[in-house]
Amino acid sequence: MADKCILSSTPDEITKLGAYCLSNSTPLPASIRDVAATTASETGSKSMMACSLVQCHWLMTTTEMLRPKRVLELGTFTGVSTLAFYEATRDSLAEIITVELDKEYASMAERGFGKYVSGGRVELLRMCCADALRLVKGQFDLIYIDADKGGYAGYLRDILDRRLLSSRGVVLVDNALIFGLVVDDSFTSNVPAGRLESFQESAAQLRKFNEFVASDSRITCSLLPAFDGVMCIRWR
Ligand SMILES: C[S@@+](CC[C@H](N)C(=O)[O-])C[C@H]1O[C@@H](n2cnc3c(N)ncnc32)[C@H](O)[C@@H]1O
Repeated sequence: MADKCILSSTPDEITKLGAYCLSNSTPLPASIRDVAATTASETGSKSMMACSLVQCHWLMTTTEMLRPKRVLELGTFTGVSTLAFYEATRDSLAEIITVELDKEYASMAERGFGKYVSGGRVELLRMCCADALRLVKGQFDLIYIDADKGGYAGYLRDILDRRLLSSRGVVLVDNALIFGLVVDDSFTSNVPAGRLESFQESAAQLRKFNEFVASDSRITCSLLPAFDGVMCIRWR
């Protein structure tokens, strides 16, 4: 039986499906809608780096089910996904650490956190992910990797070698399929104009990363064709 996969939709169909999903879901918290709208108006084409509103729904639901005590996010951008983790842990009051290297994006994220986060539950580390992984202490129940694609393998190796993931924890990795380009170069129809070469480079990095994940005997993994591809990793 053929798999039903949203990646095979045209950009127009993806927009329509996204709108349908949002109109048949509980409204997202105002914090996420506000910061997503500000991101779209202030960062122009870069705003495609932010989590879509439908993906925020999925992140929130997943986080609510996992009930993490501690969350680590690599790659904050303007804080849209960070707010999804925050809103989904209002009851459990999880501690959230998020990492962003770019000063301007970090400041934008802090503006949103200043407006919507209370209780000092979100800490933004303004540094590169490799340094942050050396700095953080203890274990995390949810780790979201969404930063520079070339760094993913090193980040996961550090997480596993240093046992930063708790025994019940999950690592979620975004952009594991890069529009489908990890499979082969025929998946070009949804790639933004003029960006094919840079996404092909990311696809080569993710292809290696996905192979590394699938072959590491310490973990189990599920690579899902949702959004831009999500790799879910747990201890074996
Ligand atoms: C895809 S965006 C993150 C999107 C965010 N998680 C969301 O869903 O709204 C990736 C972010 O990682 C940051 N980044 C890239 N390389 C990094 C590095 N080595 N260390 C820390 N942050 C990095 C970029 O500046 C960018 O803001």
